[in-house]
Amino acid sequence: MRNLTAAVLADVHGNYRALGACLDYARVRGADQYLFLGDYVTDHPYPRRVMELLYAVADRHSCRFIRGNREDYMIDYRKNGGRDGSGAAWRDCSAQGALLHCYENLTDRDVDWFESLPISGVWRPEGAPPVAYCHGSPERTKDEMRGDHRSLEMLGEVPAELLVKGHNHRRWMLAHRGKRLVCAGSVGNPIDRRAQPGLVVETELAKAAQMAFLHLEEGRWRVEYARVPYDWQGAVEDLKTSGLYRRAPVWAALLRYNILTGCDPCNVVPTRAAALYAQETGQAAPWSAVPEPYWERAAAEFHVSTIF
Ligand SMILES: [Fe+2]
Ligand SMILES: [Fe+2]
Repeated sequence: MRNLTAAVLADVHGNYRALGACLDYARVRGADQYLFLGDYVTDHPYPRRVMELLYAVADRHSCRFIRGNREDYMIDYRKNGGRDGSGAAWRDCSAQGALLHCYENLTDRDVDWFESLPISGVWRPEGAPPVAYCHGSPERTKDEMRGDHRSLEMLGEVPAELLVKGHNHRRWMLAHRGKRLVCAGSVGNPIDRRAQPGLVVETELAKAAQMAFLHLEEGRWRVEYARVPYDWQGAVEDLKTSGLYRRAPVWAALLRYNILTGCDPCNVVPTRAAALYAQETGQAAPWSAVPEPYWERAAAEFHVSTIF
């Protein structure tokens, strides 16, 4: 059986510097096939630079693309004539500024392309076992598949021994009844640890992009996780020079914190901001309705600097 290597890239989230480094590395490693698992855009600025890299790699290599929930956000927002599910337009604030920035910078062709993508697929290389792939789950872009009963059922229904997925931004695998579920980590927003109040651990280990390789060995796919060095200082600078830190002040700070620490504050900090708001006003509110000072206070509790 011939040697075969597939590069797996998930959750770029607009970090074109991380994507560029991963694509260079995949080429050096001689990848025969590229599997792109969605969430190409939103969060980091310059989404068009990501799109140009994706279109270029699709021209040169054998690639499979699916869409993630972030592409769904862009598709739905356009479908609704520039309104979200609540009927309101996105505005510049920590909850929505990065989404709006992304939407304004994409072209119609980009969103058309997102619409053309499936949410899952099965790659059937000649002479090798099939590989199933999805963003959230084979059924929904926002599923986590964390090993609960339904996710194991879905794994069982997949017509392949191996299912690779994105969306979690973490790297882990589980094996169940002869099948493997492999979470591919994240190219642009990798998460190694949970953010905790008052704990900041900046590590050199965190400052890298993540991708995975599948190697065909004796008729079975071996999974290799890779950390890829990239210009993370440039990615931090981009948050400022693009102006994103003004459009989505605390969100941009959370992205910087993620780059430096490998922790994910992008859920816990907004959730804390909403809790502070509810405590003081007696009103529950979605993230988008929580005023910026509450975001600032929540960020401070987690020692996330918001100074750019
Ligand atoms: Fe994602
Ligand atoms: Fe996602």
